[in-house]
Amino acid sequence: MQFQKRSVNPRAAELNRVVERAVNGWVRARDRFAGKIGLGGRAADYDDEAYEFVGGARDSLRKKHYDKSLRLLWKAEQALPWTSFRDANDAEKKLTDAAIGNLSPAEKAARARITSQEFRDLLDREYTLAEKKALVGVLSAIGHGEAYAWLVSASMLAEVKSTGARAAVTMQVVEEAKHFVVLRELIQAFNVEIPRLSVWEYMLLEGCLKAKGLNRFFGMNVLVETIALSIFGLLSDKPGLEVLRLFHLDESRHTALPDNYFKEFPLSAWQSKSPTSRLTRLRMALPAVPLVLLLEPELAELGTDVFEFAGSVLRKAVHLAERGGFYLPLPGKPMLAGFNAIFNAYCFATRENHTFRDYMAADTTHGEAEAAVEREIFGQAPPVAAE
Ligand SMILES: [Fe+2]
Ligand SMILES: [Fe+2]
Repeated sequence: MQFQKRSVNPRAAELNRVVERAVNGWVRARDRFAGKIGLGGRAADYDDEAYEFVGGARDSLRKKHYDKSLRLLWKAEQALPWTSFRDANDAEKKLTDAAIGNLSPAEKAARARITSQEFRDLLDREYTLAEKKALVGVLSAIGHGEAYAWLVSASMLAEVKSTGARAAVTMQVVEEAKHFVVLRELIQAFNVEIPRLSVWEYMLLEGCLKAKGLNRFFGMNVLVETIALSIFGLLSDKPGLEVLRLFHLDESRHTALPDNYFKEFPLSAWQSKSPTSRLTRLRMALPAVPLVLLLEPELAELGTDVFEFAGSVLRKAVHLAERGGFYLPLPGKPMLAGFNAIFNAYCFATRENHTFRDYMAADTTHGEAEAAVEREIFGQAPPVAAE
């Protein structure tokens, strides 16, 4: 490359350099001092000398979350062609067309015809009004949760250290945004009234958003995401809801994020084990129990025992919490046994001919692919088939 060189006054250039160095020294020293005495300082948690965010590169976090998210990135236009989303690029559309080429003529025609109205007709054919209401009751609980997941993950961007962790959380923000807008359109297609947040879910989600520091990881990525993962795992094999498999896969990555982050930046002993931290987390988690119980009629309409669902959620959430170092007032085993005793007492009081059951061993995730994804996350707490 040939550049037309221009002449520069060397004294002016040197003067500019000297002035910059002097002002830089003063501005950086002022911000360091202000930061030390808690009066502000540099706003960005960014180290421009190292060309990294504070905390370093942490490429393993980037690879496990950012790279994997992009590899598994799915588009609503491909998964739900009847929706208003136009997010697939030309190459992806060509791929879809090639896949369609392998379909039978009847399948091809069915796919080409499917419009929003036809999808609504499919839902009407497959489900009674009571079943549609039950599905919307359960799905909207997590639909509202996606709005908070979006807000909480965005707030975590200012909380995590390192370039790798920020890249990982950024992908979660993008995925939660997609979950919120896509799930909203899917739920609206059922054409039944969409319930507001129950007060228990309101308390749970507000508690996550207001939590201090890394406790937001506990509230959102451990608790709420486990409930979401369990709902998607329960419903993804139902007609018209196959897209929930993709949500399930994304949420499984989100539940693994705290543990992967703490491998790089472990919680302090105080954050992990102090009585105050344990109690704060228990307080955050408690609304989840009446929240799940409130879903009993909807889950019953869909053929699921609420206590099997709750037991499966609790077992997974407690496993994730302990693995990440988010200790609760009691160790996992006795705490799960306590909840199991409470659930059985409730069933003895409200159900005829109830016999004692270990609800904590139940699993309500359907579908082999979903079960395999969960086995990978929950490791030593593999799902035990209840049916
Ligand atoms: Fe989500
Ligand atoms: Fe999520």
